[in-house]
Amino acid sequence: PPLEQIVGLSDFDWSARRKMSPQNYTYYRNGAAGEWSYRNDIEVFQRFRLRPRVLVDITKIDSSLPTTILGHNFSAPFFIAPCARGGYAHPDAEINSVKGAACGDILYMASLFSTKTTEEIYAAKANSSQVLLQQVYLTVNISETQELFQKIEKLGFKAIVLTVDSAADGNRHRAKRYGVGSADSSYSYLTWDFYRQLSNMTSLPIIPKGNQTVEDARLAIQNDAKAIYLSNHGGRQLDTTPSSLEVALEIYEEEPDLFKQVEVYADGGIRYGADALKLLALDVRAVGLGRPFMLSNVYGEEGVKKVIDLMKREILIDAANLGVADLKTIGPRYVNWKSVNQW
Ligand code: FNR
Repeated sequence: PPLEQIVGLSDFDWSARRKMSPQNYTYYRNGAAGEWSYRNDIEVFQRFRLRPRVLVDITKIDSSLPTTILGHNFSAPFFIAPCARGGYAHPDAEINSVKGAACGDILYMASLFSTKTTEEIYAAKANSSQVLLQQVYLTVNISETQELFQKIEKLGFKAIVLTVDSAADGNRHRAKRYGVGSADSSYSYLTWDFYRQLSNMTSLPIIPKGNQTVEDARLAIQNDAKAIYLSNHGGRQLDTTPSSLEVALEIYEEEPDLFKQVEVYADGGIRYGADALKLLALDVRAVGLGRPFMLSNVYGEEGVKKVIDLMKREILIDAANLGVADLKTIGPRYVNWKSVNQW
């Protein structure tokens, strides 16, 4: 369908399935094993009901959605999560994501396994003030890691996002069925001790991505992480792991102050404005979207921009209907945290 007919983020899945080869689409869509985590990431949001407050003056709602992430200013509390192989959707691959992010004034995190090189991605910055972060996987070779960190810092990326949920390959049945290989490296040797050593190799903050328990959130803080990123890798690594909403809730119940000590990001299954609002209600600073941006790239930069516009609009109208005039005032009382049903 033409881009004008796309009304919501899930429509992009439908159109990408028609435009991409079955193999390439499968690489994007794919979850691990029985895909319970993939589905739960999406379905979890409907199990927690909103608690809208009525007759609230929302005329002063700030439509510019001001957000700071690691001290940098953006115009929305969501960002483009790091995803590999952008070239499967469009020949310009990640360049569309960089440009779309600049146009929508949101954060882009580039994947180490992008189709375009790290240098090409950085060079595509639309203006000198655009902030980009670089995700990394590590190999066993320390000097390779040192060189990689130096390159990232020298180019001008503002932080390193270290994926920590991939000690081994994801067990991806759907991909195997379609003969799609996995690119994710395994590095079981990555420990908190090693994380501290890595911190000495760069002046950039290293943000662990893939926290899934309150214990590991505490350990991240003890090891001086400036931010933590809750994620189960879009359900692509270990099946039946919790969604980031469930992890955020676990942290909120056991260690609510943690959200004041570090910035917390979260991703997985976010497709609607209200999904993002539920995570923000738990004091999550910003949320990441993976597949919607990857799939929208079949329309190129315009597709990426459309995802941003749709999400901004939905966050605004849902916040208004919820009775929240200022997103900074949203808190846990706007959601009923009694889960309606379980899986
Ligand atoms: C990913 N993800 C990912 N994460 C990461 O740290 N490094 C990577 O290279 C990739 N690659 C990747 C490729 C594709 C096609 C997908 C769909 C995902 C995970 C990604 O950053 C994010 O955690 C999830 O995509 C979030 O879930 P949703 O928004 O896709 O449901």
